[in-house]
Amino acid sequence: MNYRHAYHAGNFADVMKHVLLLELMSSLQRKEGGACVIDTHAGCGEYDLRAEEAEKTQEWRQGLGRVLEQPDAVLQSYIDRVTALGAPARYPGSPRLIASMLRPQDRLIACELHTDDAQILRRLFHRDDRVAVHHRDGYASLRAFLPPRPQKRGLVLIDPPFEQPDEFARLADAIAEIRTRFPSGIVAAWYPIKHRTPVRAFHDDLKARGVRSLLACELTLRPPLDPTRLNGSGLLIANPPFGFDNRARELLAVLARILDIEGQTTAQVEWLVGE
Ligand SMILES: C[S@@+](CC[C@H](N)C(=O)[O-])C[C@H]1O[C@@H](n2cnc3c(N)ncnc32)[C@H](O)[C@@H]1O
Repeated sequence: MNYRHAYHAGNFADVMKHVLLLELMSSLQRKEGGACVIDTHAGCGEYDLRAEEAEKTQEWRQGLGRVLEQPDAVLQSYIDRVTALGAPARYPGSPRLIASMLRPQDRLIACELHTDDAQILRRLFHRDDRVAVHHRDGYASLRAFLPPRPQKRGLVLIDPPFEQPDEFARLADAIAEIRTRFPSGIVAAWYPIKHRTPVRAFHDDLKARGVRSLLACELTLRPPLDPTRLNGSGLLIANPPFGFDNRARELLAVLARILDIEGQTTAQVEWLVGE
């Protein structure tokens, strides 16, 4: 496990993922009943953007930095939330963002396999009894935690580091398993867009498994032709809430304008499979 999210926190991919995540969290809260959110690859929850790791890559400047420099009303709820949680000095990771939106009837299960990060995460939430932190494999945890109880509604966020060559296949397995074990749940699965070929194969794999209701949200900084670069960021949403597709189009269109560096940034929201 070499991946350390501290080098990448707040970059364009984090911003894209977190803008859509907050939108999914809001939609869960339109109903009074409690929701359970599972974050399978949680990271450490909070990142110091003045620390050595972030200083070294400066990736956040092309993500969070641009959004804060060119604030747009469409992104206001994201801007308000990350600012309230410490940006631009600190950047909140997914479990911190999710936890900041939990109501008393909601809960968060956060899994993290890296020992140091799991410890940091535990410390961050030790006073919050709506949040359970587990030092364990997020994929394996799905069997233990799904379907959630007592909450019958919810969201599973899967955000793996893509260090393993079979990560796309594991992601497809996990999405299919969640749709079977927790049919009313929403799934949000992040994937890198380096080259088109593995992304197409991933989409085709899900279609071949018969998984329904799949929305691919993608933002590419440049045509994905160089497999050695992170050219874009994708979030596959299974069972999205009603109207989420149009809202995602609106959010990503604004982000594509703000995050554009080379005049080639595009956003795409496409149904791979309908209901
Ligand atoms: C991309 S980062 C997560 C970022 C976080 N979701 C966010 O948005 O702030 C991926 C994390 O997964 C952890 N990880 C890697 N393999 C894992 C596994 N099998 N189960 C749980 N966590 C894992 C890594 O240590 C890393 O912290």
